[in-house]
Amino acid sequence: MMTMPEIERCLRQLRLSGVRDTLQTRVLQAQGPNQPFLKTFSLILQDELDRRQSRLIERRYRQSGLDEKLTFAEFDWSFNPKLPRQTCFQLHTLAFIAAGENALLVGKPGTGKSHIAKAIAYQAILQSHKVEYLETDDFFHRYALNSPAQREARLRTIIDCDLLVLDDLFLARAIPDDAGALLQTLIYQRYTLHRSVIVTSNRVVQDWGTYLGDNTMSTTILDRLMHHCHLLEFDGRSYRLKEAAEAARETMSN
Ligand SMILES: Nc1ncnc2c1ncn2[C@@H]1O[C@H](COP(=O)(O)OP(=O)(O)O)[C@@H](O)[C@H]1O
Ligand SMILES: [Mg+2]
Repeated sequence: MMTMPEIERCLRQLRLSGVRDTLQTRVLQAQGPNQPFLKTFSLILQDELDRRQSRLIERRYRQSGLDEKLTFAEFDWSFNPKLPRQTCFQLHTLAFIAAGENALLVGKPGTGKSHIAKAIAYQAILQSHKVEYLETDDFFHRYALNSPAQREARLRTIIDCDLLVLDDLFLARAIPDDAGALLQTLIYQRYTLHRSVIVTSNRVVQDWGTYLGDNTMSTTILDRLMHHCHLLEFDGRSYRLKEAAEAARETMSN
């Protein structure tokens, strides 16, 4: 029989850290009555599976580019009662990913478009989907600095993931020279592969042609994006301004 340190060494060698972490607990548990071997063994296997699943989710989160784990739980639906709450929850079920549908969230700044998009993206990660979250302007600029090989690799991951989020499209109004063609490639390829895209923007789609400097390109992009698309309008007050006003009031009362 192996000693405990020997067992731990074996588990390390076999990369069974989920088993290693709970082993002491399971050994003690196994000493009780009504604890057949198979019961203990299945608990140990489940510990390892749980550990691997949570590691996978953590890895998917790190690779996604999301900067925060937002959820619907901290969203106050009463603040802007006109928001498309039903459609948001419908998206949160992630059925749109299985169906290869898109979502376009447009409307005023500070109304929660990014929050909702990030929360849906995080939910997708929790359900083991591969997600790429891009702050669009930042992505365009970084992409332009890459070597051709890096661009190809980056493009592959963005096209291959289960859900792509393009946050704040056309925030800066002007985009870098080749970004229009890049956007067109992304949307076209994902459309062909039936892979979902969520776009958020403060800009109405009628003006996209102007920002792209090319109306034909704008039509091509919008055609693909809108073909199977949930359109969500975010109308209401800015939560950012509410928070800023509260902070100012607090400062004044101190
Ligand atoms: N209804 C809401 N309830 C709670 N927090 C909100 C709500 N709307 C917006 N926020 C918060 O306000 C900030 C701005 O929202 P954001 O989603 O970035 O707006 P948008 O992308 O529409 O400009 C974020 O920190 C977000 O979490
Ligand atoms: Mg935003």
